[in-house]
Amino acid sequence: MTKRILILLALVASPFILGLLFTYDVIKIDWISLMEIQPSFQPMEDPLPLPAGSVPISGAAYVAGVGAPVNPVPADETSLARGEQLYNTNCALCHGAGGEGNGPFAAFLSANRPANLTQGNPVSISDGAIFITITNGIPGRMPALNGNLPTPRERWDVVNYVRSLQESAGQ
Ligand code: HEC
Repeated sequence: MTKRILILLALVASPFILGLLFTYDVIKIDWISLMEIQPSFQPMEDPLPLPAGSVPISGAAYVAGVGAPVNPVPADETSLARGEQLYNTNCALCHGAGGEGNGPFAAFLSANRPANLTQGNPVSISDGAIFITITNGIPGRMPALNGNLPTPRERWDVVNYVRSLQESAGQ
C-alpha cells in the first residue's frame, strides 16, 4: 500500500519537477520568440553607426564625409541680430566681443589661445568650415557648441555674425 502511494506521489510530482527545471533554466532551451529575432541593443551598448549619406529628419546640418555645407541662411537683419545674441552668449567669453580672440576667459587658455576671428585662417575658410568648427569644436582646444546651439539655424546665424565682425574689422 505505502509503495503504491509513493509511486502515485512520484507520478503526480514529476510534471511539476519537470516544469521547475525549465522555469529555473536548469534545462535551458532557446525558445523562438519573435521579439528576439530583430537587431537590438543591450543597455550601454553602442548604437549602430549611421548609414552612409543618411540625413536627420530635422533637416541636414551637414552630411559627414561630403565636405563643408553651403550656408543656406541669408545674412539679413534677423539672422545677424540672433547671431549677435548667440555669439555674445557662447563665443565672446573666449573670442572676445569683437572676435579678436581677447575674451575674458582667453587669458586662462595660455596653451591654446582662442583664434582671432577677424584675421587669417578664420577669414579665409568657408562659412561651412566655421559651421563645422562650431558644431564639433576643435578637440582639446575649443568645445563643441552644438549642445548650446542645437539647431543648425542658430549656428548659421552665428556664422553670419562672425562674417559681419570680420567685415567691420576691415576684412
Ligand atoms: C572655451 C573657449 C572657446 C569658446 C567658448 C569658443 N571657442 Fe572658438 N576657438 C577656441 C580656441 C582655443 C581656438 C583656437 C584653436 C587653435 O588654435 O587651433 C578656437 C578657434 C576657432 C575658430 C578658428 C578655426 C580655424 O579653423 O581656424 C573659429 C572659426 C572659432 N573658434 C569660432 C568660434 C565660435 C563661432 C564660437 C561660439 C559659437 C566659439 N569659437 C567658441 C576657443 C573657444
